[in-house]
Amino acid sequence: MAKQYDLIVIGAGPGGYTAALKAAEYGLHTAVIEEKKLGGNCVNRGCIPTKALLHASNRFKQMQQCDELGVSVDFISFDFKKMQQHKKRAVKTYRDEIRRLFDEAGIEYIEGKATIRRNRTVEVNNREGREYYQGKNIIIATGAMAVMPEIPGSNLPGVYTSSRLLAADTWNFDRLTIIGGGVIGVEFATIFNSLCSKVTIIEKGPHLLGPMDEVVAKELEKALRKKDITVYCNAEVSRIEDKDGLTCQVEVAGGESFSMKAGQILMAVGRKPNINGLLGDDMPLEMSQGKLAVNSEFMTSEPGVYAIGDVVSGIQLAHVAAAEGTYVVEKIAGRPHGIRLEVVPTGMYVSLPIVPNCIYTEPEIATVGITEEAARASGMKVRCGYFSMTENGKSIVTRKEEGFVRLVFESYSDTIVGAQIVCPRATDMIGEMATAIANGLTAGQLSMAMRAHPTYSEAISTAISDAMRQK
Ligand code: NAI
Repeated sequence: MAKQYDLIVIGAGPGGYTAALKAAEYGLHTAVIEEKKLGGNCVNRGCIPTKALLHASNRFKQMQQCDELGVSVDFISFDFKKMQQHKKRAVKTYRDEIRRLFDEAGIEYIEGKATIRRNRTVEVNNREGREYYQGKNIIIATGAMAVMPEIPGSNLPGVYTSSRLLAADTWNFDRLTIIGGGVIGVEFATIFNSLCSKVTIIEKGPHLLGPMDEVVAKELEKALRKKDITVYCNAEVSRIEDKDGLTCQVEVAGGESFSMKAGQILMAVGRKPNINGLLGDDMPLEMSQGKLAVNSEFMTSEPGVYAIGDVVSGIQLAHVAAAEGTYVVEKIAGRPHGIRLEVVPTGMYVSLPIVPNCIYTEPEIATVGITEEAARASGMKVRCGYFSMTENGKSIVTRKEEGFVRLVFESYSDTIVGAQIVCPRATDMIGEMATAIANGLTAGQLSMAMRAHPTYSEAISTAISDAMRQK
């Protein structure tokens, strides 16, 4: 007889573990099944390890530049093995904390590969054999995995996915070519450039960071070029060969094709839902564009079986998965919803205006809500406030005089509908803007709070004043 639960969560990433903890809080008897490691991609192969390496590599870079601040260091070097140890420690600390919370909440954690069968039964295969579990409800939160494009030569040694590159324990990345100038591409470019690798990004779209506002993407491109990172846009690698080292054949839209040598290659061309072996023959869930199809309540074509996060979402972000997981559990438990839902262009149902999007490059990029261009394209009348960080006091004293703050206000109501910030700590500053948008604050209300001097946040006050002047 299968063990019985109120809720079985498959996948222990941010979507899955947040849903499980919420369910336990509401008194639901909950089990989580995970085939790899607790924490999923975000904790083990994504957000946490990349940010740990970004922090360490940025420190190294900053130390090299500290002479201009009057600080002399005779000899600076980095130890990649130690950096990896720092990364592993951060990952383990995070993972142990989730495990502690699970134990405290009485959540059963099951290691193994889950396959969903009829009647919300889940078959789990692991070293001990095969077990069956049954849930009144199931949440699928199995995330996504790297797409390997069908480029001849992409299976050659020296061609990496981001997970494999993160796991490398010796430093052997003197000339890194990154195929794909999306979020993973630009964050890895930042890490490896800081560690003295000669980095090239090849992006097939017209600018980096595809869906991101072009003004923001161009600002980043300028900053990357200043760091001596080579960026090719409208360019695609058609073939990789091993001729005395890796060589990429690059086709340029409307331009001349060329070939270039690469020491190592990172494939960062997107991620696809991780559903390998998840659905039994007796459980053919409906699909939509390669992803699990769900309704506005995140329910799949099988009643009681839900799917959240990267396995369904158009927006592949940890905090979106966590918000979706919370939403589903609140519904299952019959508690009022904490988040506002609405249809967004991707067909998903999250509250898009308050999803912050953070990119940990140097300078950092953080956006929330809509851009001026998107607002005008939808027929909304807006007024924008702009402030260049070259005039910000904190930027001047830290010698980080690049980037901007741009705020978008709806013209009639004066409420804030969007913010784009490019500067150090932008990823922390965006929280204030997300709260303001979620609560429909006006420029006047936002201007009532002082922002301390000297801080990067002062730029928000100046951008608000700029918008108010245009009334
Ligand atoms: P992505 O979809 O952001 O970018 C992939 C890029 O590769 C696109 O710009 C695309 O035009 C380009 N591309 C595709 N095929 C190509 C080819 N053959 N040649 C050259 N360029 C090609 O995907 P990415 O960067 O792999 O990230 C995956 C997901 O992980 C994203 O949805 C992202 O939101 C999430 N993520 C979020 C982070 C954050 O919030 N800081 C950090 C890392 C990942």
